[in-house]
Amino acid sequence: MCPPEHFGVLYEINPWMHREVAVDVDRARDQWGELVATLVAAGAEIELLDPQPDLPDLVFTANAGTVNHGRYVPSRFRHTNRRPEVAFDVVWFTGHGFAVAELPEGVRHEGAGDALPFRNVFLSGYRSRSDAGAHGPLSSLLGAPVRPIELVDGRLYHLDLTFCPLDDRRAMAAPHAWDAYGCRVVEALVPELLVLEDEEMLAFCANSVVVGTTVVMPSCPPRVGRQLEAWGFDVEVVAVDEFLKAGGGCRCLTLALDVAVG
Ligand code: ARG
Repeated sequence: MCPPEHFGVLYEINPWMHREVAVDVDRARDQWGELVATLVAAGAEIELLDPQPDLPDLVFTANAGTVNHGRYVPSRFRHTNRRPEVAFDVVWFTGHGFAVAELPEGVRHEGAGDALPFRNVFLSGYRSRSDAGAHGPLSSLLGAPVRPIELVDGRLYHLDLTFCPLDDRRAMAAPHAWDAYGCRVVEALVPELLVLEDEEMLAFCANSVVVGTTVVMPSCPPRVGRQLEAWGFDVEVVAVDEFLKAGGGCRCLTLALDVAVG
């Protein structure tokens, strides 16, 4: 995770971002601190990346890259605004003993914002940010199968706004945001799906972090909470509305380092 010292909405690269909407940095700092405390209480260990001036979206570490078995594939961002983040991410991962494996030039992929592990594969979203053509190279570099899902709703521009693996049987999902093939891939792979309604997905319900049996969510409508609890999960809601102004929620603010797929 990366502290929000330099967070703000300084440019517009997704439909949620409006430069005229000011971010309250003190509030953002409190919300981020609450997220850290909640994840730690659930059993997570947190590593920190130093914030950098002029890189307001560096807080969204989900987009630093994709991790598997101690290997790290840096993102190749669609938008020039975020490309300078990568140098800082690579320094961090190199310094922490990860093997860095680069995607070919010209191929776009935005890391764990789009590539989510489920059982023995990665599901990876593409269209507005990541390229369909990234999945072959990503699969070779990660040493695991990667299944593409086209994201058809521009508001849900990363897969982690539409899909949240819960354990090896269950996930929250917003199939309305996917192409027909993507829907079939997920239905075939995930035995039990909690299908989110439109308002639930637009409230960033899927952008949740799962630590053991705790689901840390930006919001949780009663219907969703009841199903999660019936499945044996504990729900923790952490307000991250300052970050929603930039189009990111709880999960976007984190990157799992202990991924081991395939
Ligand atoms: N403002 C950031 C962007 O548009 C938000 C990133 C959200 N990250 C995510 N994993 N969905 O790139």
